[in-house]
Amino acid sequence: MRVGVIGTGYVGLVVGACLAETGNDVICGDVDAQKIAALKEGEIPIYEPGLEPLVERNIAVGRLRFTTDIAEVTKESDVIFIAVGTPADEDGSADLRHVLDVAAVIGDHMNGEKVVVTKSTVPVGTADLVRQTIEARTEHPVHVCSNPEFLKEGAAVEDFMRPDRVVLGVDSPRARQLLGELHEPFVRTGNPIIFMDIASAELTKYVANAMLATRISLMNEVARMCELTGADVSLVRHGVGSDHRIGPTFLFPGPGYGGSCFPKDIKALIRTGQERGYDFKILRAVEEVNEAQKRLFLEKVEKHFGPDLKGRTIAVWGLAFKPGTDDMRDSPSIVLIEGLLARGAVVQAHDPVAVPTARRLFGDRVAYFERDYDALKGADALVVMTDWLEYRRPNFQRIKDLLRTPVVFDARNLWEASRMRELKFVYYPLGREAVT
Ligand SMILES: NC(=O)c1ccc[n+]([C@@H]2O[C@H](COP(=O)([O-])OP(=O)(O)OC[C@H]3O[C@@H](n4cnc5c(N)ncnc54)[C@H](O)[C@@H]3O)[C@@H](O)[C@H]2O)c1
Repeated sequence: MRVGVIGTGYVGLVVGACLAETGNDVICGDVDAQKIAALKEGEIPIYEPGLEPLVERNIAVGRLRFTTDIAEVTKESDVIFIAVGTPADEDGSADLRHVLDVAAVIGDHMNGEKVVVTKSTVPVGTADLVRQTIEARTEHPVHVCSNPEFLKEGAAVEDFMRPDRVVLGVDSPRARQLLGELHEPFVRTGNPIIFMDIASAELTKYVANAMLATRISLMNEVARMCELTGADVSLVRHGVGSDHRIGPTFLFPGPGYGGSCFPKDIKALIRTGQERGYDFKILRAVEEVNEAQKRLFLEKVEKHFGPDLKGRTIAVWGLAFKPGTDDMRDSPSIVLIEGLLARGAVVQAHDPVAVPTARRLFGDRVAYFERDYDALKGADALVVMTDWLEYRRPNFQRIKDLLRTPVVFDARNLWEASRMRELKFVYYPLGREAVT
């Protein structure tokens, strides 16, 4: 099939590469000329495990091409995925500017019947806006559908190749047939393709993220209750998660959810509710809890050292909002680091892959280190913000030798309090007994 993908970010690039891998002729377009120039050379602008060989291989066999010319993508494709960003607007609603810009370009360059798929996360009703925008510019028939994406950064290729389910919001037999064929190779083990109306598909994506974010905020509140009552959140999590109605995933407390999706999608769903006269109370609480959670470890640092951090050096391990990605959009580490800097601290940071992203955000206000232990030299404390695998079994003696004072804040509960007590650390985990 001739497939076009517009927007080659975390989602579009994975979609394009995976559809090329299953034999389709894929042309990916993006307005970012630098990104496209790099991709043409086989250079991947993001960190995503397994993506680079896929892109390289499919470029080499001629099934995957890149261009800045969105008109060309339109003309050369029968099915076009729109995968541009939908950031939060000032009022919290999803900013549809990029999606509708793309729809206008598609409309202007239609040269036959096409299926246009919104892959970006968009509020209910957006497919209608896309259809109206295209139809106002062409006589050619267009089938607009919704195919929300559920991939996780850090496991995006795996998620796309073996999805739990594919959701397709369609309202024409042609769209149903083409999109069904396109996705069939990814569901051969029986995971479902769920066809539904377009509004339900658009809403499904938001509800999935709302459900996951709600679990996280609930467990973050439970962690606070544990600290107040002497309970251990890890035991509570285990006890609760073994109930098969609840399940064990997404029950880990932490420094708050971040990333490119949850924060903006929760805001957008609240906003959609408001626009239709509905107050989404649970989600407002989920967001409020999350904002407070992002400040929690800054408060713990302040509680230990006092509010004035001038003359203090704090080491931070982990900048990305989760392991496996260099994405720092809405990462809790930003709130921590900005707070530390505002209180006069020097910040020495390490992350296995997100340092280039951090440099763009903080410039030289933060000192960056390539090796995790180097970030600890002379620091008054270490704060662990991201649960990268490489932080799980460190050499604690080395940490102790490098720190000026052996104080550790563990926002991911990576380490055991008993071990930290043995080694005479001052240790502040989350929702468990501190060692002081
Ligand atoms: N990142 C994720 O984990 C994830 C998962 C599921 C769904 N989504 C959704 O997918 C969409 C894309 O997310 P992302 O993380 O890939 O975003 P991204 O910011 O990484 O990429 C978006 C790309 O679109 C390009 N673009 C913007 N305007 C354009 C235009 N007019 N024409 C062509 N290209 C244009 C940008 O240059 C950029 O390369 C969002 O709606 C997001 O909510 C993201």
